[in-house]
Amino acid sequence: MGFFDNMRKPKGKLGNIQLKSMNKEHTPVSLWGLKHLDIQADDVILDVGCGGGINLNRMAQKAKKVYGVDYSEESVKLSREVNDDLIKEGRVEVLEGNVQSLPFEDDTFDIVTAFETVYFWPDIEKCFGEVKRVLKPGGTFLIGMESNGSDNLIMKFWQHFIDMNLYDDAEITQFLQNNDYSQITAYIKDGRKKQEIIKEIGGETRRINDDYDHISFSDKFVEWLTVVARK
Ligand SMILES: C[S@@+](CC[C@H](N)C(=O)[O-])C[C@H]1O[C@@H](n2cnc3c(N)ncnc32)[C@H](O)[C@@H]1O
Repeated sequence: MGFFDNMRKPKGKLGNIQLKSMNKEHTPVSLWGLKHLDIQADDVILDVGCGGGINLNRMAQKAKKVYGVDYSEESVKLSREVNDDLIKEGRVEVLEGNVQSLPFEDDTFDIVTAFETVYFWPDIEKCFGEVKRVLKPGGTFLIGMESNGSDNLIMKFWQHFIDMNLYDDAEITQFLQNNDYSQITAYIKDGRKKQEIIKEIGGETRRINDDYDHISFSDKFVEWLTVVARK
């Protein structure tokens, strides 16, 4: 199991190092994605493909309880370490599981998030249906990615080595529509033009953002994508 396989399913010591690095490196794109969620104090949240577990920690600062699920033993282990205190308080719980068959009852969560993980999901459309099953009616599904299609050349390069797929906002929107999600909104942070584009079905608005100084050099050349939809 090498460096590239560890992006898809982290394993062993190298996997642990890469997960710790992801907790750090994914911070800007995750924080930007989280801005598009309105977390309430009584919300119960699930983060699918929770990786190193830092987003569980962030969301637990606002929500009643946050669950993490990941099919990698190493990700589950690190997520538990990172959230040790919150787990003891009963505010975070981490389970090993696959998005294809989530270990939860129907209509359980107010919010389900998926950061930097949908590239690896087999039959993504079916997985979006599985996420919908565990969402409460009216619940929110958020997908966060540091690319919009194949615009991110580093990730495009990775594709030669990893079993992964890159999707753009139109494709993600289509998968959600095919699962009858509603109120689908795609937020695109364009590092080149320094603007955030908001796409809703039937309309598109553009707005300039002022926090582009805080993104890394390479992120200045790509688009980040966050898509939010309702069950
Ligand atoms: C690139 S990491 C991202 C981790 C974290 N969400 C972040 O933003 O840093 C992808 C994670 O998704 C998990 N993953 C990939 N496919 C999965 C699946 N089918 N079911 C559950 N977890 C999955 C991997 O094990 C890995 O921990």
